[in-house]
Amino acid sequence: MTYNDTFIRACRRQETDYVPVWYMRQAGRYDPEYRKIKEKYSLLEICRQPELAAEVTLMPVKKLGVDAAILYSDIMNPVASLGVEFDIVKNIGPVIENPIRSAADVDRLKPIDVEGDLGHILETIAILDRELDVPLITFAGAPFTIASYLVEGRPSKSYIRTKELMYGQPQVWFKLMDKLGDMVIAYLRSHVKSGGKAFQLFDSWVGALAPEDFRTYVLPTVTRIFAELADLDVPKIYFPGVASGELLPELSDLRADVIGLDWRVSIAEGRRRTGGRFAVQGNLDPYLLTAPDEMLKERAKRLIDEGVKEPGYIFNLGHGLYPEASLDKLKELTDCIHEYSQELLAG
Ligand code: CP3
Repeated sequence: MTYNDTFIRACRRQETDYVPVWYMRQAGRYDPEYRKIKEKYSLLEICRQPELAAEVTLMPVKKLGVDAAILYSDIMNPVASLGVEFDIVKNIGPVIENPIRSAADVDRLKPIDVEGDLGHILETIAILDRELDVPLITFAGAPFTIASYLVEGRPSKSYIRTKELMYGQPQVWFKLMDKLGDMVIAYLRSHVKSGGKAFQLFDSWVGALAPEDFRTYVLPTVTRIFAELADLDVPKIYFPGVASGELLPELSDLRADVIGLDWRVSIAEGRRRTGGRFAVQGNLDPYLLTAPDEMLKERAKRLIDEGVKEPGYIFNLGHGLYPEASLDKLKELTDCIHEYSQELLAG
């Protein structure tokens, strides 16, 4: 078995023979085989069965030929260890029985016990470490994004209660950020110990904040997470989620290797705004997969033209795959990216 380290090399801004690709939410409902498994088990039930979770992680790697696997899990899983009860409800997302809105609620959060409470996740990682011939990306939700679920109690468009807590009770807010920061650090550290080869911190909803608020209320904890994990010799990705283009200049001192971009900012502009210090990952609008084949490929090729101007480019979408995406189209897109970038880089 030859190990494909193209993704790792690109994260480190080393030269590669072609542009590596993986897709956020690459394991999911667009795949009929996954939907079959979901008829029997919920997401959380799959996560609690390491063999099955590993199998679901492997499915897109085999079917699409992507250059990295992403652990099948959810950003909410670690909060179970803090004592938060939640469910992932079909067509809604994470729902929290008792949202966290007061100092007493935050005080009740326990420190994470990864080995005691989340051993099944570490076991899944260990299985994948044995079976994969591409790197395994593990992940955590970033404190703001996790807090948005904990405080709102469910997915939100306005983040009104989250912002109310942040602005109105800053001491409580920072205590929550500290506790979630500690959770993320311990969780990701144990992933790497179990065999994870890179990790991504998903801050999916932080684009809801003004740069000033991001800088004041969120960035200190994100900075601490990457600083405390700096000793781990694996690539570290920060994905500030959708509509985060105006936050990019704030990230230039982060001790991450890769910044994920959404499609509202070009690759060149993303590099410029982050001070040219990072590899970049992204950023095709997932809904371009609805476009005619030729148009989709043209747009992907233009992204690659821009991406390969400097070492350190990883092809991805600007956000997660949606359930109606076509498996065949994704496979064709993946092949197109590999072939086109290989020609370009050889030329
Ligand atoms: O990317 C992958 O293939 C790995 C698996 C993965 C899942 N969730 C599984 C999942 C990853 C990386 C996540 C991260 C995650 N979870 C994020 C960050 C990424 C992003 O999209 O910005 C967020 C915000 C969540 C919280 C969450 N979980 C939401 C908003 C939803 C969607 C609800 C819905 O039904 O559309 C989920 C559920 C979820 N997590 C699904 C999957 C495959 C879909 C439902 C399912 O198949 O059960």
